[in-house]
Amino acid sequence: MVKSCLDDPAARYGAEPGGASAPAKAKITFVDSHGQARTVEGESGATVMETALRNDIPEIAAECGGACACATCHVYVDASWTEKTGKASQMEEDMLDFAFGVKPNSRLCCQITVKPELDGLVVSTPAQQG
Ligand code: FES
Repeated sequence: MVKSCLDDPAARYGAEPGGASAPAKAKITFVDSHGQARTVEGESGATVMETALRNDIPEIAAECGGACACATCHVYVDASWTEKTGKASQMEEDMLDFAFGVKPNSRLCCQITVKPELDGLVVSTPAQQG
């Protein structure tokens, strides 16, 4: 008997939620400027900004939609995560020049891609965005 991709339900209908080919997820905690923490799941490949918007996280306006052109997705990456999130690109650094309250751990969260290694990531939003 000849097998085709149509015999594979995952190929035919897409991955089952939680199945082996489902996108990996990472828990991300957003702490707002009042100190309230919200932990949500982000899908690998999405950005931290997209994860925030999908989960109605406050204080992340993301006005440019992730084009690195507005700085309204400014976050502070928790000190224990700065190595794993990596450094801002030159373009991101240039845009951060327009943000308020920039610190060494400042990032634009539209430039951070969710990946399994970021499971547990903690970011907080500056008071100026509250
Ligand atoms: S969403 Fe505009 S810079 Fe990130």
